Amino acid sequence: MKESLENLKNSALQEIRTAGGFNSLEELWRKYLGRNGQLRNFSIKIKDMTPQEKAEMGRLINEVKNILESTINNRKNDLSVADSRQVDDLPDLNLNLTDQTIKLGHLHPHTQMKMRVADIFHSMGWQVLEGPEVENEHYHFDVLNIPANHPARDMWDTFWLNHQPSKNGRLLLRAHTSAMQVRVMEKQKPPLKVCVIGKCYRHEATDARHEHSLYQIEGFVVDKNVSVANLLHTLKTFLHYLFGRDVEVRLRPSYFPFTEPSFELDFSCLRCGGQGCPVCGQSGWVEMLGCGMIHPNVLRAAGYLPAGRQVQPQYTGFAFGIGLDRLVMMRHKVDDIRWFNGGDLRFLRQF
Ligand code: FA5
Repeated sequence: MKESLENLKNSALQEIRTAGGFNSLEELWRKYLGRNGQLRNFSIKIKDMTPQEKAEMGRLINEVKNILESTINNRKNDLSVADSRQVDDLPDLNLNLTDQTIKLGHLHPHTQMKMRVADIFHSMGWQVLEGPEVENEHYHFDVLNIPANHPARDMWDTFWLNHQPSKNGRLLLRAHTSAMQVRVMEKQKPPLKVCVIGKCYRHEATDARHEHSLYQIEGFVVDKNVSVANLLHTLKTFLHYLFGRDVEVRLRPSYFPFTEPSFELDFSCLRCGGQGCPVCGQSGWVEMLGCGMIHPNVLRAAGYLPAGRQVQPQYTGFAFGIGLDRLVMMRHKVDDIRWFNGGDLRFLRQF
C-alpha cells in the first residue's frame, strides 16, 4: 500500500508540474484530493488495519495530501505571474473600461398616444378594452346592421382569412373596432361607457393619410336619454384634454349602417394650418372620426331592446370611431402616415 501511495504521489506531481492552466489544475485537485479523489481510496482502505498500521498510513496519506496541495498552489502562483507578465508585455492594451452608455429605447408614438387616450377615458370613468384583431363576420358586420351581401360591407376594405367558417361566419382581420360594440353589450347591462383602443387592418391603397395597419379608438355609451348633445360634448372634452386647448373641428352628416343619424368630424389641418397640403388632400380639413347615435338594430342584436319595431326604445346610445394615427399626425404635425411603420429610427427618435 505504501508503494502504491508513493506511485500515486509521483504521477500526480508529474501531472501538476506540466499542467498548462488553472482549469487543468482544478481538474487535478478534484482527481487526487477531491471528495471522490484517489487519495480518499487510501483513507477508506486503512479502516481495516491495526491501530499501529493505521496511524502510520494515516500520517503518510496526510503528507502526500499536503505535498500535492502545496504543489498545486505553487503552480497556480507561477501561472498567474506568467499571465501578468504577458499582459504587461502587450504594448497597446488599455484595460480601462470605455464609456459604454446604454442607449435606452422609448415608446412608439402610437403607444404613447394609446396610453394618453386610455388615461383620459379612465379619468372620465370609462372602461378601456382592446378586443380581438381576428374577428368573425357576425360581430364585424351582421350585428352592426350590415347583413351578408349588403353593399355597405364594401365600405371596409376587408382582409378575409382562409379559414373554415364557424357558426359566426368567416374570419377576417378587423377593419374597425366597432366590432367590439355588441361583444361588450352582450356581456354587460347598461349603463355602459366603453372605450376600445386597438389595431385594425384594411386592404387599402396607402397614401399620406391612409395605412393598411391603423389604430382606432372606439367609444360607445348606452344609457337612458343619451343624445347627440352628449356625443358632441364627450368628443369636445376628449379633444380638449388631448390637445390642451380647443381645436377647430367641423361636423358633417354622413352614413354608417350602425348609427342613425351619422356624422363625420374633421379637424382643421394642424399640419398646414388649413392652407392645404398632402395630408389634408389640399382641402384644409382632415377626417378624424365617424360617429352617431347607435342604430336600434344594434341595440336589438345585443338584447337591449325587445324585438319588433313598435316598441319605444328604453335605451339609446352614441358611438364614435377615431383614427388614432391621424391624432398623432395632427398633434406632432407629421406629414405622412407611412412614417409610423416605416422603421426609420431617425423619425421615431424624435418622439
Ligand atoms: C369606421 O371605421 C367606423 N367604424 C367609425 C364609427 C364608429 C362610426 C362608431 C360610427 C360609430 P371609418 O372607416 O370612417 O369609420 O374610419 C374611422 C376613422 O379611422 C377615420 O375617420 C380615420 O381617422 C381612420 N381611418 C380609416 N381608415 C384609415 C386608414 N386607412 N389609415 C388611417 N386611418 C384610417
